Amino acid sequence: MATMLNQMAVRPLSDALGAEVSGIDVSKIDDPTFRELRDIFHDRLVLVVKDQDLSPADQTAFARRFGEIQYHISPEYLMKDQPEVMILSNEKEDGKFIGLPDGGSEWHSDHSYVDQPTGYTVLHAIKVPRDGGDTEWTSMVRAYDSLSDDMKRRLGGLIGTHSFNRLKNSRLTVPVRHGNDPDYYKRSPPDSYHPVVRTHPATGRKALYMSPRFTIGIKDMDDVAARSLLDELFAHINNRAFVYRHRWTVGDLLLWDNRATIHLACGGVPEGQHRRMHRTTVLGEIPF
Ligand code: OGA
Ligand code: MN
Repeated sequence: MATMLNQMAVRPLSDALGAEVSGIDVSKIDDPTFRELRDIFHDRLVLVVKDQDLSPADQTAFARRFGEIQYHISPEYLMKDQPEVMILSNEKEDGKFIGLPDGGSEWHSDHSYVDQPTGYTVLHAIKVPRDGGDTEWTSMVRAYDSLSDDMKRRLGGLIGTHSFNRLKNSRLTVPVRHGNDPDYYKRSPPDSYHPVVRTHPATGRKALYMSPRFTIGIKDMDDVAARSLLDELFAHINNRAFVYRHRWTVGDLLLWDNRATIHLACGGVPEGQHRRMHRTTVLGEIPF
């Protein structure tokens, strides 16, 4: 059988992470091409696959090749007939948002607030605004590698506390749209605990695993000391040399590895312009 591998073209997107892949159709990808794509992905951590024309069912089937689907904890914006796909959108119908309008507006790794967080996220661009709506990723492998040896030693064995609950995170405010809904944070799952330095199961590389959105403390460390350590680490991570910024085009399929990156929805979409993404997440391992 002919393989797509010969048609696949790859180019790096930034020094730290990211690769753009063209010449393939992920809904028809054969096994050797898939394995090569996954190896490139594990190396570059973010993949941009251009020009994909995928139904939600196609996207789900492709995501399943990486593992088990992870369903979002809140059912509100899952597609009715394809609940593996969550809609991110600022569009409204009958005065109500048809998708999550402000997902990812602080740096985070997906679902780090549960015991078994997301391995991979697959995001497909359906509608792209003329202005704004970019997304950024930071390589947490680069962030870890560039720490001092002393800091690496200090972090060995530390466990971070991750919480979905914004009320527990002094770095954050609660979005206005939840202000009048006291039940919203009761839906918050229990906090989870993960090593602050984790090892990638496929490559063995070490990465920092923490984020301003979800990491609220360090287990068995008092709040003042934990706050100061996290401040220092977040300042270190905040370095443009570790970042890839994506300007979306309709049909882009983005894949990212949540075990070794954090990401940010940059926002800035003007009123009246529409952005719609279809999102599928693949369950990862328990971080180690
Ligand atoms: C996500 C996410 C960012 C964006 O889908 O997990 O954070 O720019 N998306 O839509
Ligand atoms: Mn996200």
